[in-house]
Amino acid sequence: MIKGFLITCIFFIFLLPIKGQELNYDESKIPPYTLPELLVSEDGEKITTQSQWIEKRRPEILSLFETQVYGKSPQHPKGLHFEVLSEDRYTLGNMATRKEIAIYFTEDEKHFMTILMYIPNKRNGPVPLFFGLNFKGNHTVNEDANITESVTRMKPRKEGDSEIHPGAFNRGAESSRWPVEILIANGYGLATVYRGDIDPDYDDGFQNGVHPLFYKEGQTKPESDEWGTLAAWAWGLSCAMDYFEIDEDVDATKVAVVGHSRHGKTSLWAGAIDQRFAMAISNDSGCGGAALSRRRIGETVNKINSLFPHWFCENFKKYNNKEDELPVDQHQLIALMAPRPVYIASAVEDLWADPKGEFLSGLYASPVYQLFGLTGMAVDEMPEVDSPVTNGYIGYHVRTGNHDIKLYDWQQFVKFADRHFK
Ligand code: GCU
Repeated sequence: MIKGFLITCIFFIFLLPIKGQELNYDESKIPPYTLPELLVSEDGEKITTQSQWIEKRRPEILSLFETQVYGKSPQHPKGLHFEVLSEDRYTLGNMATRKEIAIYFTEDEKHFMTILMYIPNKRNGPVPLFFGLNFKGNHTVNEDANITESVTRMKPRKEGDSEIHPGAFNRGAESSRWPVEILIANGYGLATVYRGDIDPDYDDGFQNGVHPLFYKEGQTKPESDEWGTLAAWAWGLSCAMDYFEIDEDVDATKVAVVGHSRHGKTSLWAGAIDQRFAMAISNDSGCGGAALSRRRIGETVNKINSLFPHWFCENFKKYNNKEDELPVDQHQLIALMAPRPVYIASAVEDLWADPKGEFLSGLYASPVYQLFGLTGMAVDEMPEVDSPVTNGYIGYHVRTGNHDIKLYDWQQFVKFADRHFK
């Protein structure tokens, strides 16, 4: 663990500057910038009503994010179908029912993802759900010995190696990030999917995940405006919504899509492309998530595209070191959630993700909520550490500590969901 930490430090201290990517962590060195207009359409019309937003401006912004940032995703496949693989009514000290559901992307069932779901046994009807991707496999989310182990798929270590790493992570290895028992006690279900089921998280030229299922004849990789890995993950989450709509234990009108870090970027994009998600929660999502790209502090567009060339669409690389030319910025991504509630969480030591830029996105998205007669962010200034702002439809907190998703974060998400769902 310490070794891993040291390698990461060495990487960031030495390798990034060598690649000509200077790091800035100094507010005073942020170059002046002008954000793209939220409420003026491409033809110059001022957007002052809900219907103008819904019919005109929202589609414009969505389409720019699709073609320039995350990439366009295909329709849900015709072969999409589901199968409940297991159901156990007596888990977590008899507090919850565990289900595992295969979401098959193809008729032949060769390509699928597995949803792991816990539902509170004490319930009067369908329950609201928190739903998001996990990093290391469904079996790492809880120590429950009966969770089916995910097939862990990672970058092969050397040529000729397999991408499949059996037993790579222990049961419950990520349980600190998934307080299932607490969600259950508060009347919420939890559902999660291993990201590698949809698209393994490394640059392999888009051969191993869901992308090839949609290639046209002769196509070998996505077009410049087609989906990268983050969009594929969001698309997978959206496919799961089709299942939640038919699961009688789930209130599909109250599904909060939640994610930490790269999965926080994903949850925001999922909320944008699929308005059935009733809430989106982004935790420490940073660059390409909640943080404004034009601030160029911590991780930048150039850095993220160099470190993770597969995350966004090819067109996004045009904006490396050219943030001012981006036709959108991330406050507009938050605005795509309106009028649904959205929560942005930051950690004060997580300067790589730019906590202030994450707050400002929420603040600058707020005028769209006003069109709906709602308060977006309920304050104008970034709040103190550990002082959540939850009165409006855009919730925000910056917590003590580092880049992670902790119990404190979840406690705020539950309170925010209580306000909006109960
Ligand atoms: C890296 C990356 C971030 C990302 C994070 C994570 O630090 O640069 O953009 O959010 O990984 O997903 O953990």
